[in-house]
Amino acid sequence: MGNALRLENITMQFGGVVSVNNLTLEVPEHKITALIGPNGAGKTTAFNCITGVYQPTNGQIEFMGQPMVRNHPTGKAAKTYKGENADKYLKEPVLAPTPDQITGLGIARTFQNIRLWKSMTVFDNVLIAKHQHAKQNVFSAIFRGNMAEEKRMREETMELLVEQGLDAYKDELAVSLPYGLQRRLEIARALATNPKLLLLDEPAAGMNPQETIELADFVRQIRDKYQLTVFLIEHHMDLVMNISDYIYVIDFGSEIAQGIPEEVQKNQRVIEAYLGVTDGDQ
Ligand SMILES: Nc1ncnc2c1ncn2[C@@H]1O[C@H](COP(=O)(O)OP(=O)(O)O)[C@@H](O)[C@H]1O
Ligand SMILES: [Mg+2]
Repeated sequence: MGNALRLENITMQFGGVVSVNNLTLEVPEHKITALIGPNGAGKTTAFNCITGVYQPTNGQIEFMGQPMVRNHPTGKAAKTYKGENADKYLKEPVLAPTPDQITGLGIARTFQNIRLWKSMTVFDNVLIAKHQHAKQNVFSAIFRGNMAEEKRMREETMELLVEQGLDAYKDELAVSLPYGLQRRLEIARALATNPKLLLLDEPAAGMNPQETIELADFVRQIRDKYQLTVFLIEHHMDLVMNISDYIYVIDFGSEIAQGIPEEVQKNQRVIEAYLGVTDGDQ
């Protein structure tokens, strides 16, 4: 199997600040790959480049072997560009899909700060994600308003809620759920778009230790059931070391290490990057 995702020389520069610097990494299909690093390292920014929230200043992102995002420094950014490989993509066409188009290709994500429709029910949070996804899809549009299609979506929504242990809460408002369950609801909503690749940005943030342990098993289960590839950002080191097949470590936007958990754990640069950083503010 190939790579679900490949970042090549990705640089994201905001004004004069380089938040992601010449990042190259591979996320193999059906594996769980982690991106870790101290607070402010550029992890969420990398996810934002993958999901179309930001257009990277330079570099290319391939999804399922096809170029999906590509850019090179232009205009003002060309004058201030501090990254590497400024000329590498100059002659290639720019590719800048919208977040919706990227979701449509099969990439879903959750957010570091949970984003739910808080005043809607648990059930509607997932159902509406399904509707929105169906609208992106020309084939589904033919069936819009079709009762059978609506029934199927409701059944699939219920199935996702059962799987997440959320069925008992289906009529409650999303905002009323405890934090750990809100995180699960966000994952259910991401799965509602039938992704091939799931990006999780600090999925254990705010979870208690028991919920964190359960999360590791749960992520593996959904990976297997939905034939997913998982790319996650996480600062709970126990979880990262337990769950990841492969880990990339970045600091100040640049890769400082990569390897299997055993290698990364004893890497001197990684230990130094984390020194003096308490678990709570990573
Ligand atoms: N839209 C933006 N404009 C300016 N700077 C940004 C923007 N988004 C992120 N940054 C900066 O990029 C750096 C990396 O942030 P982030 O990717 O959130 O780090 P991490 O997720 O690793 O904690 C930070 O210095 C942050 O302030
Ligand atoms: Mg972040």
